[in-house]
Amino acid sequence: MVRERGLIDGHLENWIAGLPKGPLFEPMAYLLGLPAKRVRPVLALMGCELFGGKAEDVLDEAIGIELFHNFTLMHDDIMDASPLRRGQPTVHAKWNVNTAILSGDAMLVKAYQLMGADPHVLATFNRYALEVCEGQQHDMDFEHRNSVTLVEYKEMIRLKTAVLLSCALRVGACKARASVEDQDWIGAFGENLGLAFQLRDDVLDAFGNSAVTGKQQGGDLRNGKKTWLMIRALERSNEVGDGRLVTELNKVVDQRDVDAMIQLLRELGVEQEAETEVARLEAAAFAALDAVEVAENRKKPLRELAQALQERKS
Ligand code: IPE
Ligand code: IPE
Ligand code: MG
Ligand code: MG
Ligand code: MG
Repeated sequence: MVRERGLIDGHLENWIAGLPKGPLFEPMAYLLGLPAKRVRPVLALMGCELFGGKAEDVLDEAIGIELFHNFTLMHDDIMDASPLRRGQPTVHAKWNVNTAILSGDAMLVKAYQLMGADPHVLATFNRYALEVCEGQQHDMDFEHRNSVTLVEYKEMIRLKTAVLLSCALRVGACKARASVEDQDWIGAFGENLGLAFQLRDDVLDAFGNSAVTGKQQGGDLRNGKKTWLMIRALERSNEVGDGRLVTELNKVVDQRDVDAMIQLLRELGVEQEAETEVARLEAAAFAALDAVEVAENRKKPLRELAQALQERKS
């Protein structure tokens, strides 16, 4: 993983250095220059190497996927009214909303410049990139709904987050000419890993340390996001006849008492349930990886990455 990470960092640094100067590109360089995990490009490289390809064969596409991810973050932070990202002010907070919209748009175009060389890769990318937008739409729609089921939640996070991890692995596998069956298995690994990844993100949003996550604590609660924690907490509250969470949600966004909401989630004990679900999804991811038809030692880097993500605090 250290080697893949080094390759990504080097390639991305060069790419950023080649950006034109000026206000359209500055926010791009800013966001891309902040410390990040680079999970998706690392997955693209590992997906390629798993099937005997060279990391260098998929470096451009790996960076393209990271650009797309950063485009979604720049716009997501507007949608979620988030002040902090990667420990620093978000682009719309540092500049303004219009700058973040346009610089994000330009970053999407830049991503396409890197994803378009191979028609198979482009077709895969098109499919999943559109699904990410669909997932984001569900995420926002759910803010305004009183009740959302766990099944709806799972489909929403599958779209907004999990499919892009899956896409990165599929693109790597495609470049290494893996069989269709193996591309599907590695895609399933990525999807389950991605579901666990978003569930962990939701847990960290409520219970993580802002100095470590680099994001404002409790932003999801303030926005009335229907995360796993919120859905289960509403169900539990209903079962025991506790109206406090609903009372908070009935207030306008700025007046919600986020600390009280975090405390309520603790009291209702939903964090442990979320942890159990994360573990279940990770097990499903490992089962899909088991089914890929390559020698076990080749799977080691992906197993290690998945294990590192299990313990992540940011
Ligand atoms: C944040 O993605 C958005 C989600 C899909 C949860 P990451 O947690 O991968 O963020 P960075 O890229 O490492 O900052
Ligand atoms: C973001 O989900 C998913 C996408 C950007 C597509 P979140 O809104 O939970 O991500 P963070 O917590 O802001 O990173
Ligand atoms: Mg969001
Ligand atoms: Mg967000
Ligand atoms: Mg989040």
